[in-house]
Amino acid sequence: MCGIVGYVGPRAAQELLLEGLQRLEYRGYDSAGISVLGDGRIESVRAVGNLGRLLDAVGAAEPARKAVDGGAVALATLAPTTGIGHTRWATHGKVTEANAHPHADTADRVHVVVNGIVENYLALKERLAALGAGFTSQTDAEVIAHLVSHHLEATGDLPAAVQAAVGELEGHYAFVAMALDEPDVLVGARNECPLVVGVGEGERFFASAIAAFLSQTRRVQHIEDGEVVVLRPDGATFLDAAGAEMRREVTEVDWDEATAEKGGFETFMLKEVHEQPEAVAETVGDRTRRADGVDLTEPGAFDEALLEGVKRVVVVACGTSYHAGLIGRYAIESWARLSVETDIASEYRYRDPVVGEGDLVVGITQSGETRDTLAAMRVARERGAKVLAITNVMGSQATRESDGVLYTRAGLEIGVAATKTFVCQVAVMYLLALRLAELRGTLDADRRSALVADLRRMPELLGQTLEGLGKVADGVAARHGDKGFFLYLGRHVGLPVALEGALKLKEISYIATDAYAAGEMKHGPIALLDESTPVVVVATDSPVLEKVASNMQEVSARGAHVIAVATEGNEMIAAHAEELLRVPRTDWTLQPLLAVVPLQMVAYAIARRRGLNVDQPRNLAKTVTVE
Ligand code: AGP
Repeated sequence: MCGIVGYVGPRAAQELLLEGLQRLEYRGYDSAGISVLGDGRIESVRAVGNLGRLLDAVGAAEPARKAVDGGAVALATLAPTTGIGHTRWATHGKVTEANAHPHADTADRVHVVVNGIVENYLALKERLAALGAGFTSQTDAEVIAHLVSHHLEATGDLPAAVQAAVGELEGHYAFVAMALDEPDVLVGARNECPLVVGVGEGERFFASAIAAFLSQTRRVQHIEDGEVVVLRPDGATFLDAAGAEMRREVTEVDWDEATAEKGGFETFMLKEVHEQPEAVAETVGDRTRRADGVDLTEPGAFDEALLEGVKRVVVVACGTSYHAGLIGRYAIESWARLSVETDIASEYRYRDPVVGEGDLVVGITQSGETRDTLAAMRVARERGAKVLAITNVMGSQATRESDGVLYTRAGLEIGVAATKTFVCQVAVMYLLALRLAELRGTLDADRRSALVADLRRMPELLGQTLEGLGKVADGVAARHGDKGFFLYLGRHVGLPVALEGALKLKEISYIATDAYAAGEMKHGPIALLDESTPVVVVATDSPVLEKVASNMQEVSARGAHVIAVATEGNEMIAAHAEELLRVPRTDWTLQPLLAVVPLQMVAYAIARRRGLNVDQPRNLAKTVTVE
């Protein structure tokens, strides 16, 4: 949930850390801090609020440091070149400066930044306090600073101290430690929380996400669970739980720097909405080279043997990713004639689910780090099911806890509200459904060819959907943006789209929404309707379109306002709607991939009209690594 960055090398650490945190801020933003080490001392600055507050605090600290160092001349040569930084999203302890990271030991000689949860922190805290440790925060994270310090006294060696500390920690975490007595060293460890190494020329980075150092290097080393990594300017040493040295290759990520910037758009979310044609093209492209089918094999990631003998598909996911799973269900059932269950991951694992051999469990998670989804995948795997991960992040935990991975290739998504990763998840579900259908012989070659051709056209159709959409969405926002409640309705493949549209609006505009199967409206939600209610109806092509049209009439009859997403040229739907959001025609099973885009843009337009920060909605984080 939090963001971590670390630097060791010849350059001034402070700017690099702040830049890294700026790129990580979407991971957690209730407080932030940095500690830098050099010239025989550690300096630390923490601030509550977004990163701007930390920048102010660091700026304010600078003249003081200049004075201590004897003026600006000294600053350049004495600038600390080792440091750690953190953005926090509170889980244990209130949002206060004392609870912000970095945390230090009592003697202020060991500083740490931590992501995740130390489950046994109370027992450790009691023990360390009895030994004289003075705790200054309410966090579980602080215990790591004292624990490392405790072991450092005994070993006199930071890597050994971190290794000993890791042996005592329970929970899921990633952390980086530095010590006053070892100025050119950072030591990091991870267990089920993200942490990677960035490899520069004579310098190294730690970060919880590659984005933090992407502007400095694209060369990455992945860290496995349970490993301790010792970082020095000229290299990284990877140690397993027993302290044995491990080899780790350097890989190059293909995200360029520009993908981490807004690229001329006013927000990351808007940029990412407009990147959807390209993202889907990347995701679908080489997998649909064959006219009458798709190829999913990817060495080291996905082997088609995983699809052999599958009797049932179970999808586990959270939030938007869950909605992608719901859409995939229609395609797999219809094309591959396989039974599909879809489950909210946070519920699944506590249900004692009946799952095992013959089941293909698909964990969908853009971040690859969502704790509930990972736990659901783990339960299924333990019970003998094959587990497939659909994720956007290479090297993420989901890729390690599965038997195969299908990557969405959406590129870096910074906006907390998932947009391009969602359409890519949906695209991957279509690809999976098509491949299963081919392997099972449930779709003839002509139908497969038609669907492959439609999928290949998706980037173009997404581009058409986006044309002029901003203006139409602004119009809807102008007429309804002040309303306190929106109802979303859909049937068949339109239902998951309605669910996703409602989630998008509530998460970025803070307007209450409800999403319902349109046929269920008469069983309750219809009581909510009056002259002030905007009702968004997903009314794109489907086998039940006429029934949707009669639901729209039921809404209008109560004086509520119908805003319809309709397939181009469908005048029957247009006649029943006050406002129309048109999408191009494609096969009805594929319509959700287009139909969601107007709903993203309506949510966006309303949130912006309300002056809200759409990239960082309150209380939400991009990666949810807590239960
Ligand atoms: C999406 O807009 C949300 N921010 C959220 O529901 C998200 O989809 C959910 O937390 C799952 O995340 P994941 O895909 O990284 O697992």
